[in-house]
Amino acid sequence: MRAIVITKPGGPEVLELREVPVPAPARGEVRVRVRATAVNRADLLQRMGAYPAPPDAPADIPGLELAGEIDALGEGVTGWKLGDRVFGLTGGGAYAEQLVAHGRAVARMPDGLSFRDAAAIPEAFITAYDAMVTQARLAAGEQVLVHAVGSGVGTAAVQIARAIGARSIGTARTADKLERARALGMDEGVLVAGGKFADAVLEKSGGRGVEVVLELVGGGYVAEDLACMAPGGRLVLVGLMAGIRADLDLATILRKRLELRGTTLRSRPLEEKIAATQVFARHLVPLFERGTLKPIVDRVFPLAEAGAAHAYVASNEGFGKVVLEIP
Ligand SMILES: NC(=O)c1ccc[n+]([C@@H]2O[C@H](COP(=O)([O-])OP(=O)(O)OC[C@H]3O[C@@H](n4cnc5c(N)ncnc54)[C@H](OP(=O)(O)O)[C@@H]3O)[C@@H](O)[C@H]2O)c1
Repeated sequence: MRAIVITKPGGPEVLELREVPVPAPARGEVRVRVRATAVNRADLLQRMGAYPAPPDAPADIPGLELAGEIDALGEGVTGWKLGDRVFGLTGGGAYAEQLVAHGRAVARMPDGLSFRDAAAIPEAFITAYDAMVTQARLAAGEQVLVHAVGSGVGTAAVQIARAIGARSIGTARTADKLERARALGMDEGVLVAGGKFADAVLEKSGGRGVEVVLELVGGGYVAEDLACMAPGGRLVLVGLMAGIRADLDLATILRKRLELRGTTLRSRPLEEKIAATQVFARHLVPLFERGTLKPIVDRVFPLAEAGAAHAYVASNEGFGKVVLEIP
């Protein structure tokens, strides 16, 4: 089969389309003929040698999400047959024509959804739902601050917030992305300049502050978050695009009784990935069937142009997801 291989740590040019062996499904696994995958920031870090693949994933083939058709069944797999259309997360290896996944770590694709749209869903929507709802317990009537609202995860988060009856305040450094996020159901937008947003968020929250922060940016944003969180607020740190260090006012955390937690999907053990997939299948996939949620595809590249897709993601110009198609 053909796959994009990280030939050595480096820039987009180190990605090469190569012939590699076809993986065989072990007990409980299915093999998927991948029709589309999507680019994640983690893939860029892996390509640069800064984020090695977990032990159960190929070391040199990136790709954390997939949409495709089952083309082989391992022993003991139930509930799937050849040709079933599935989508989901994987620890790596999705920039390839075929990959193996645990049979319970993929979900059935809704009828009528294309592979390119389906590939834009799993990482963004599972991350946003898991962080904001499962972990931070966002509830109807509460307010959530979604940073980098034009990102893949951000565009998923504002749609999920609206679907559960929460009010969302989004931030971006680009005015156009705020406008486009409004069309997805974002209630208020804050244009961030010089890393400051707390005063504007407080004002747009009616003075009470936000109950939940989906922190996709990290770095200095976290100090600002504390200043615009409501008492009892919950912050989930999901991304570190602005850096890994912050200077925090611990007195604010005490006084407001705030919760701060971090999360990653890729490093979780298989049983937790299966649990997140089953929550996705039960709570989110029906909302795609009804049209309440929709995948936001910014651009589609053929797999062979994965390097160009990486460069485009790094440019920060996108809104939503960048998909790789594998015809
Ligand atoms: N923990 C997990 O399991 C997990 C899973 C998925 C994603 N993530 C993380 O979540 C974040 C979002 O991922 P994504 O794939 O959805 O992103 P994305 O689609 O690539 O979008 C990122 C956007 O963030 C903004 N941005 C970039 N650098 C920034 C900075 N230094 N300060 C402020 N804004 C910045 C840019 O928009 P503007 O500048 O125009 O606003 C950019 O378009 C990333 O940090 C990613 O690593 C974590």
